[in-house]
Amino acid sequence: MTSLETIVNLSRRRGFAFPSSEIYGGLRSAYDYGPLGVELLRNVKNQWWRSMVNTRRDVVGIDSAVIQSRRVWQASGHESVFTDPLVECRQCHQRFRQDKLARPEQCPSCGRRDTFTEPRHFNLMLRTHMGPVETEENLVYLRPETAQGIFINFANVLRVSRRKLPFGVAQIGKSFRNEITPGQFVFRTREFEQMEMEWFCLPSEASQWFEYWVDARRRWYLDLGMNPENLRIRPHGDDELSHYSKETVDVEYRFSWGWDELEGIANRTDFDLRQHSEHSGQDLSYFDQATGTKVVPYVIEPAAGATRTTFAFLIDAYRTEQVRGAQRVVLGLDPRLAPYQVAVLPLSRKPALVEPSSRIADDLGERFSVEFDITQSIGKRYRRQDEIGTPLCVTFDFASLEDQAVTVRDRDTMQQDRVGVDRLRGYLAERLNG
Ligand code: GAP
Repeated sequence: MTSLETIVNLSRRRGFAFPSSEIYGGLRSAYDYGPLGVELLRNVKNQWWRSMVNTRRDVVGIDSAVIQSRRVWQASGHESVFTDPLVECRQCHQRFRQDKLARPEQCPSCGRRDTFTEPRHFNLMLRTHMGPVETEENLVYLRPETAQGIFINFANVLRVSRRKLPFGVAQIGKSFRNEITPGQFVFRTREFEQMEMEWFCLPSEASQWFEYWVDARRRWYLDLGMNPENLRIRPHGDDELSHYSKETVDVEYRFSWGWDELEGIANRTDFDLRQHSEHSGQDLSYFDQATGTKVVPYVIEPAAGATRTTFAFLIDAYRTEQVRGAQRVVLGLDPRLAPYQVAVLPLSRKPALVEPSSRIADDLGERFSVEFDITQSIGKRYRRQDEIGTPLCVTFDFASLEDQAVTVRDRDTMQQDRVGVDRLRGYLAERLNG
């Protein structure tokens, strides 16, 4: 199993993610995504959007504000109940989430027993003030979930999209939680990205849609190449359910520290729409033409973490192999997720090879995400591309000047094919999509 340290090292060495504010000692709350990380994260989000919005006629997207009226969070219940139990060790004064302690009576920092304070309910929302005056009236929160931006726009979206039940509204964006113990690299941070969809349906159909979305979301991870042995669905016990949920399952990944959540799929009932109707005085019901009655829809919500899921794909893709007595590191990412799909590598730095291969890279760049690399020996460049997950390398050598063909090397099998430059685009498209 790939250790956390291995992935953190790879991320720093190759430029997937760096601690935020690193030159000032780091914040331990957030990460900055480097040149490779930003591509991988964007590909994960694009695949989610494609599967949840672009390929469906019954889901539309929105992009709501991070800062919303405080009344949103009063109505949703977050201001009063979005808390974690916080305990402090009386000896070393470190603070922990009580429900995440491996041993409830022992401090994980100093090892002493029975030194914890009584748990205190700590609200996880990050606070700030709107405008120049820091008064209670100007207090606002950075959103802790993207979902509420969808609920408060329910009537707007219904009006402009003219959808009939069932339909969904999807959103990808930043969320913020003042986590007591951020950690495990990008797994738990105070600033992160979510990919959420609220599926509005008739209350009588909610259970059946819940099953549908659990299955669809599980298949999404598997279709993008996640190892089925590392993925499981775990139903929540009654004591774990969020204040809005009637039923929840987690999609969990087998991390090096054990099974942990990638996504929650919840039956939120009509809780949020009713709360916002009540607090805003606006009618957030739906007129069902079939029965001629008004109904407040139920909501099934698949809520995934974009940054956390990206992290899981990175771990899942990592493997090492022995090749002719040397170790090879491979990121076996699906071509739809890989930061670069193709690397174009002239065999030497001689202009006679660099110039034509640069033209090939420009041409391929219109169709694929391409890296062009002329540094180091070809062997070292292949290893680098293997380690960052590039599925195919195109090498332009001296023979290419004669036969107008290039060598295409496969990341996983290391097999090489000679392909004419005139049919290279089509060949790569077939290999990458197949
Ligand atoms: N709207 C429902 C909701 O927000 P959640 O289970 O609290 O549900 C959904 O969050 C997903 O967001 C989680 O499964 C996880 O992937 C991600 N997530 C939540 N808190 C996070 C954090 N502090 N850091 C990174 N990802 C987080």
